[in-house]
Amino acid sequence: MQEDLAIKIEHISKCYRIGLKEKMHDSIASAIADFVRSPIRNYRNYRSLYRFDQMRPGDGADSSDVIWALNDVSFEVKKGQVIGIIGGNGAGKSTILKILSKITDPTYGCAEIRGRVSSLLEVGTGFHPDLTGRENVYLNATILGMKKREVDRKFDDIVDFSGIEKFIDTPVKRYSSGMKVRLAFSVAAHLEPEILIVDEVLSVGDADFQKKSLSKMENIGQEGRTVLFVSHSMSAISRLCDRAILLSHGKVVADGPADQVVSAYLNASSGTAAARVWSDPQDAPTGPAVRLRAVRVRDEGGNVSETHDIRQPVRLEMEYDVLRSGHVLLPHFTVLNDRGQCAFITLDQDPEWRGKPRQEGRYTSTAVIPGNLLAEGMFYVSCYCLTLNPDSKQFNERSAVAFYVSDNLDGDSARGDYAKKLGGVVRPLLKWTTQFYPNGNKPADRALEHDPLSGRSA
Ligand SMILES: Nc1ncnc2c1ncn2[C@@H]1O[C@H](COP(=O)(O)OP(=O)(O)OP(=O)(O)O)[C@@H](O)[C@H]1O
Ligand SMILES: [Mg+2]
Repeated sequence: MQEDLAIKIEHISKCYRIGLKEKMHDSIASAIADFVRSPIRNYRNYRSLYRFDQMRPGDGADSSDVIWALNDVSFEVKKGQVIGIIGGNGAGKSTILKILSKITDPTYGCAEIRGRVSSLLEVGTGFHPDLTGRENVYLNATILGMKKREVDRKFDDIVDFSGIEKFIDTPVKRYSSGMKVRLAFSVAAHLEPEILIVDEVLSVGDADFQKKSLSKMENIGQEGRTVLFVSHSMSAISRLCDRAILLSHGKVVADGPADQVVSAYLNASSGTAAARVWSDPQDAPTGPAVRLRAVRVRDEGGNVSETHDIRQPVRLEMEYDVLRSGHVLLPHFTVLNDRGQCAFITLDQDPEWRGKPRQEGRYTSTAVIPGNLLAEGMFYVSCYCLTLNPDSKQFNERSAVAFYVSDNLDGDSARGDYAKKLGGVVRPLLKWTTQFYPNGNKPADRALEHDPLSGRSA
């Protein structure tokens, strides 16, 4: 393995056998005979669970009790890289982390790892329920190869970071899952591992802790150590990782800069991209007077982009040809979220063109959605055009493009410090004020005693 590599995975496949069915018996005699033979059958079943030598990925397709959790996965990770692994449920993300943490072996292929690994895979693994938090910290650290003196030195930092000092002498079985994750992450992150592996678990912690642990991982990366991080939060992945690997059905389908891979994943799952261009006019949605040629979602800088920070404006652009002069046009967009709820419809209001007949030729119309308006999530944009007086539909392209709004935990969007799931189609940043009346002495209601916007009293 090259000097600068921390991890090298070559052609790894992992096969699981699932659900061997019980046989039904039609007579007592057959049930008794089967009972007598069962130790031999159980032994064969047991052996077959671990024997895959006759099988290769692909053959498994015809065997219904076999799952290829990973199928010929190869990649390398340089020292000091912070890598995100993303993909749908069952894509094989946790399986890779388990192989790298030596919790399970690959069926084929090999993984080389250089450096001390510390991993956090599932809530509560590695903790003994009857031991106290303090005892578990020592137990875990020792298993990971630390001397007692080293642990003594770091103990206060670990407990401090976890924020559970009050419960440190309570048996871990009395902890909530959030408390377990706090302590487990804290131990994993303070052992100064050369490679830190973290699976999703952080989502169990509260907002504060999620923020804290994300910045801790960021620091670990900046100190030149390697981090492998699995998450379903695309915001966390884009923020934390330089590179991301997208898995689908056990295979690597994208590997590259995190933002690009996140976009590829969101596109693949929505089936719609941020730009759609009809280069052949024959295929383009059209009416007798106007033909659509392209729809694009751009960021403030004018780049076509699938992912947008919630605080930044998003530009929707439609490009169309007017085929016959003399019509007044009404281009408009409809924006829906991924539950099909309409966020808004917006009509072209450009005073330059409002009510004016247009000449033949190419046009682009752009609508700017301000920052801090839409909620986080996927949005689908439909693109319409009417000609007026008399009204006549020209084109109507549903879900022409899509984009994703991400809401990071930076504290200055409408979610503030609240990290959990927030509903709603829009998430405007509103001005809030709260009045306090000591002893409940609220003055009698007048129209508006205190105008919160101007700050002036009425
Ligand atoms: N111990 C096991 N026995 C049988 N099948 C398993 C086992 N562990 C995982 N699998 C299967 O392997 C596949 C990949 O699972 P894995 O846990 O790696 O997915 P994941 O990408 O982490 O998904 P999620 O996002 O839901 O956590 C799944 O189809 C899963 O059912
Ligand atoms: Mg998983």
